[in-house]
Amino acid sequence: MTCAMVIGTGHCVPERVVTNRDLMQWMDTSDEWIVERTGIRERRWISPGTTLDDLAAGAARMALQDAGLAAEELDLIICATLNPDCFFPGNGVLLQHALGARTVGALDIRNQCTGFVYGLATAAAHIKAGLARTVLVVGTEIHSTSLDLSDRGRDIAVLFGDGAGAAVLRAGEGGGDVLASVLHSQGEFARELWCELPSGSQPGRITAAQIAEGRHYPHMNGRAVYTHAVRRFCEAIQEVLDAGGVAKQDVKLVIPHQANLRITEAVTKRFDLAPEQVFSNIQRYGNTTAASIPIALSEAVREGRLARGDLLVLVAFGSGFTWGANLIRW
Ligand code: UT7
Repeated sequence: MTCAMVIGTGHCVPERVVTNRDLMQWMDTSDEWIVERTGIRERRWISPGTTLDDLAAGAARMALQDAGLAAEELDLIICATLNPDCFFPGNGVLLQHALGARTVGALDIRNQCTGFVYGLATAAAHIKAGLARTVLVVGTEIHSTSLDLSDRGRDIAVLFGDGAGAAVLRAGEGGGDVLASVLHSQGEFARELWCELPSGSQPGRITAAQIAEGRHYPHMNGRAVYTHAVRRFCEAIQEVLDAGGVAKQDVKLVIPHQANLRITEAVTKRFDLAPEQVFSNIQRYGNTTAASIPIALSEAVREGRLARGDLLVLVAFGSGFTWGANLIRW
């Protein structure tokens, strides 16, 4: 049976470091509040002129180099983001052009924090169905341009950062594989974490009055997101382990979406995982939504946290609500 092996990873984050103390020049917050509630100490923000595709292409080139492949060898590009450069077209085609890839399919994934998990599941399915041999999956985000830096937006503004991560998957006959994936959604909670405007359903899409009200900024019911996240993270991990017929003690590493260190710690405790089984880098990058798992994966590989043959779980929860997990033999 055809396997879908992850053969390369990469990441790209902007050079500009924004610390919690830096945020205090714009809003009433403190390093203590942010660290205690989220674990975040700093995040990366782009400098003017950097685009979502600069980050995506940077991560993709690193992943391709890691895989020892040229962009022309890609059969499919999957690009996950909640912050596209423009309303349309999606960022997948811009990435195809930036990489100089052939005119292969470029699929955009709009599943927010769960985007990379959805993307990896889709890539593996294409490979196993014989539709593609080599697939690039990228998660890329620029949040810094869409944050309300006033006190009104401080609950969200302190959380998010910019960056991109990527993985290259290739068809193989043995060795590494995406063993199982589980994907979920529950649109009844769409408004608990969303960016309402501009809206395709509203004539003119957005008004000056709505901008003044801040309705073009992301909004979140933090408590509701927190509660659902812990529950769904645990459920998704168990579900994907069951689907793969694997016990949790056999898992070498769990890379959760980097939403909040408290969420990760609650999941680690509730799911009874050992601390060394769980990867965190939110302290340095904040929440980069679709980019957070592939950035963490790329760092975990370079830190020697995974060896070929190890079992790895990727798990995410976010706006939608959406959630899901991948079980990977590395
Ligand atoms: O990928 C999924 C994305 N989102 C998440 O994962 C977020 C999930 N939720 C959370 O992580 C937490 O709900 C937050 C970290 C966002 C907030 O923590 P919380 O313990 O739920 O705080 P809260 O919203 O209940 O606010 C507590 C207080 C409020 O003040 P009062 O009403 O008690 O006087 C807020 O106004 O903290 C205040 N507050 C802040 N204070 C300093 C809110 N944001 C800030 C801030 N700095 N940045």
